Amino acid sequence: MTGHTIGMWMYQNSGGDQIQRKMVEQLKERDIHTVTGLDLRDAIAKNGQIICHDRVMEDLDLFFSYNAGEQTLYQVYLYSMLSHTIPTVNSYSAFEISEDKFKTAHLLNRHGINTADYELCHKEDLMVLKKTMHDWGGKMIYKPTDGWGGMGLLKIENESALDMLSSFLKKTDIREFYVERFIKYDNTDFRIDIVNGEFVSCYGRKAPDNDWKTNVTSGGSVIMREANDAVVDIAKKAAAVTGLDIAGVDLIYDEEKEEYVVLEVNGIPAFATPEQEKMGLNFNDKKIALIVDLIETKVKGL
Ligand SMILES: Nc1ncnc2c1ncn2[C@@H]1O[C@H](COP(=O)(O)OP(=O)(O)O)[C@@H](O)[C@H]1O
Ligand SMILES: [Mg+2]
Repeated sequence: MTGHTIGMWMYQNSGGDQIQRKMVEQLKERDIHTVTGLDLRDAIAKNGQIICHDRVMEDLDLFFSYNAGEQTLYQVYLYSMLSHTIPTVNSYSAFEISEDKFKTAHLLNRHGINTADYELCHKEDLMVLKKTMHDWGGKMIYKPTDGWGGMGLLKIENESALDMLSSFLKKTDIREFYVERFIKYDNTDFRIDIVNGEFVSCYGRKAPDNDWKTNVTSGGSVIMREANDAVVDIAKKAAAVTGLDIAGVDLIYDEEKEEYVVLEVNGIPAFATPEQEKMGLNFNDKKIALIVDLIETKVKGL
């Protein structure tokens, strides 16, 4: 048998099916065959093999996992195991960091990359948090460390709000209390996509009038926005530090400290949807080409 075979699990909504088709075609031109639709939720594991849709996953040359919306704990569990045997994009260890807000902020800080000031403590350490809130000028944001889409974020502006959240957390099995300083910014952000260390695209999001969250899922809207050297440089560093081959780095400009800060690094940053492409977001082909190069490099050991 000649050539290589990779597995792919890619989101199909919002134009994902077309992106997949283009990737499969371009990989084929390089003698790389793709088995699509390998949702590990359907897999079983036994006798040293993970079997998904009659495929032995470990026999593939690489697994490309790109479906944030349909991720299940079971799927992620098998992804973590699979990554010990074959290369995956993204690598599981990088993906795992990017899925956790504390781990991302902590690692970026260790490498001198600005994030929002953050603090993690045991959920019972209320006195520590009260002092921190005071040090930060009385405003902070509670974030579930594994949240997404702006969900579960809570702005805390006084001690009674902190007490209420604390008594709620005590009743849950959440161990940690993760907070960030509330940053004064213009309610817009930057999303910078990086693939294999290279700049792909820049766009932004704007929060709705009465909100400080830019997430599209909380009513934010996508805006066209030019990159600048500073944000591109930070985004490249953030991708490198987290180890993500494909990264979507979110930044905002802190008006008090007068610097850009990284808010999060996304390990499965979406391609532009057909509607966004009509707005002028035209980075999909560049991103596809860079991902195809990346996969080829990995499977052929170039
Ligand atoms: N420390 C902060 N200060 C001010 N606004 C913030 C802060 N952290 C997050 N936000 C706003 O909330 C949104 C969601 O936060 P984020 O950490 O990206 O969580 P999610 O994973 O839910 O998107 C951000 O896009 C930003 O608009
Ligand atoms: Mg976000």
